[in-house]
Amino acid sequence: MTGRIVGEVVKSKNLSFQEGEIVRGNLGWQEYGISTGEELVKVNPDIAPISTALGILGMPGLTAYFGLLDICQPKAEETVLVSGAAGAVGSIVGQLAKIEGCRAVGIAGTDEKISYLLDDLGFDAAFNYKKTENYRHKLKELVPEGTDVYFDNVGGEITDAVFPNLNLRARIAICGQISQYNLVEPEPGPRLFPYFIVKRIRMQGFLVFDFIDRYQEGLRQMTKWLREGKLKYRETIVNGFENTPTAFIDMLKGGNIGKQLVKVSGL
Ligand SMILES: NC(=O)c1ccc[n+]([C@@H]2O[C@H](COP(=O)([O-])OP(=O)(O)OC[C@H]3O[C@@H](n4cnc5c(N)ncnc54)[C@H](OP(=O)(O)O)[C@@H]3O)[C@@H](O)[C@H]2O)c1
Repeated sequence: MTGRIVGEVVKSKNLSFQEGEIVRGNLGWQEYGISTGEELVKVNPDIAPISTALGILGMPGLTAYFGLLDICQPKAEETVLVSGAAGAVGSIVGQLAKIEGCRAVGIAGTDEKISYLLDDLGFDAAFNYKKTENYRHKLKELVPEGTDVYFDNVGGEITDAVFPNLNLRARIAICGQISQYNLVEPEPGPRLFPYFIVKRIRMQGFLVFDFIDRYQEGLRQMTKWLREGKLKYRETIVNGFENTPTAFIDMLKGGNIGKQLVKVSGL
């Protein structure tokens, strides 16, 4: 099973890597992995806990960074709405929106997540979609000024409800569609294209790998903001390699706040 890991080099025949060094890589669900070293990146444990190399200072952090700042180009005073807001990517998107001087609004699936967004991360507004009957009405109430940027992690009915709330020249980043991943048949959605014409909307899908040449820039900036206390993060850590499938399924069901991780050894 594919998956990103951060771990210790326990044996090396590659002169670029010494035993004891910490590396990040795509070695999958296994307790020990073998690599030529090509796709391994060294992690400096003095900068932050090494787990952050899989979260805020790793792929999810870079997804939020490039997806929001490059794809959506938010401007100060604009309203940024993010779905999946308490997850690894979404929780960073809202904080980056605040750094850019925007109003941040989040959608997530538990009251605990909503408190986390509002009380810990500084979101301006948020709602629990699992306790909300009419998403459109709720958005009208919480975002009366309208949405300028929508960062979509979930798709489906939540995203359908965002369209009437969008402002002229709104930008949408399609980052994920987690509500759709396990569907057997595609959901028939409402036809939303008229909104694109009237509101001159721009929507763009992206993959974080599109920005691979700029990862160092992104990591430098994210590390700086983390050290300055402008970014916070949480991790949901499950202990024991044997619990990896359960942790994965729990994440799909919304059991995580911030990045879902599995701790395999005592590092
Ligand atoms: N484009 C890229 O390069 C890229 C890179 C990384 C991730 N992604 C995508 O970005 C999204 C977020 O990834 P992540 O790693 O940060 O995951 P995450 O948000 O940490 O975890 C997934 C969250 O999705 C929410 N969720 C599950 N089913 C849902 C549904 N039916 N409707 C609404 N929300 C639902 C759950 O929270 P609730 O309690 O709020 O429901 C769950 O905690 C995913 O769609 C992922 O595929 C894209």
